[in-house]
Amino acid sequence: MRLLFLGDIVGRPGRNAVIERLPGLRDRWRLDCVVINGENSAGGFGINEAICDEILAAGADAITLGNHTWDQRETLVFIERQPRLIRPVNYPSGTPGRGANLIDTRSGHRVLVVNVMGRLYMDPLDDPFAAVDRELETCPLGQVADAVIVDVHAEATSEKQAMGHHLDGRASLVVGTHTHVPTADHRVLPGGTAYLSDAGMCGDYDSVLGMQKEESIRRFLQKTPGPRMEPGLGEGTLCGIAVETDDRTGLAVRVAAVRLGPNLEETWPRFWD
Ligand SMILES: [Fe+2]
Ligand SMILES: [Fe+2]
Repeated sequence: MRLLFLGDIVGRPGRNAVIERLPGLRDRWRLDCVVINGENSAGGFGINEAICDEILAAGADAITLGNHTWDQRETLVFIERQPRLIRPVNYPSGTPGRGANLIDTRSGHRVLVVNVMGRLYMDPLDDPFAAVDRELETCPLGQVADAVIVDVHAEATSEKQAMGHHLDGRASLVVGTHTHVPTADHRVLPGGTAYLSDAGMCGDYDSVLGMQKEESIRRFLQKTPGPRMEPGLGEGTLCGIAVETDDRTGLAVRVAAVRLGPNLEETWPRFWD
């Protein structure tokens, strides 16, 4: 299978980049499954139903979230009727929505998508390792799922790398999100799991983490409250990882970084050209 994962969509520049480029990429690379983190897609804070539908219509098979999951109150309600929208799995039991789901892709495959939040320098939640283990035990790769994609929404690269190695051989892809800065450590781990510490964001990189740089700089200089942070206004860049898996095992065969747009050096999976 051919998988594409894209990092946190930040505001309109991120949405526009996805909507304008993803349909063409799906065709050009003959993608089987696309998963995108959408936790900052509504003005930088959360997601709403209209935007969720827009991202799915552009070619995403599933959308993952993170610490901004509930920034838009309507998400508490519409997440219950949107099985392709996945929030962190290690929230307390009784939290609306699902932390994992077996998604039917347009290509006819079944992909387990899991979203989990780290605990280092983040809100304390349930054990992320045990939570993901439970999901993988009920839906094993190569038996129930054709591919397994785990989005580790976390601050610390140590926690993300530990999760990658912990799941090595049991997931097709373990990919980090949340920092909005892409890392360069994409690789296939010894057990066959594709890994990347952070996918980066889909958004305006002439910014501070996707938000307009002036107010962000001012907050560091003056330490006083100011206007609400707003997403950058420039053209967005797509950032993430491309993975090809073995059809029999569901494990990764090769990986490539994806960066398409202004500001960052562009790169893409040349093995699919
Ligand atoms: Fe984010
Ligand atoms: Fe986040």
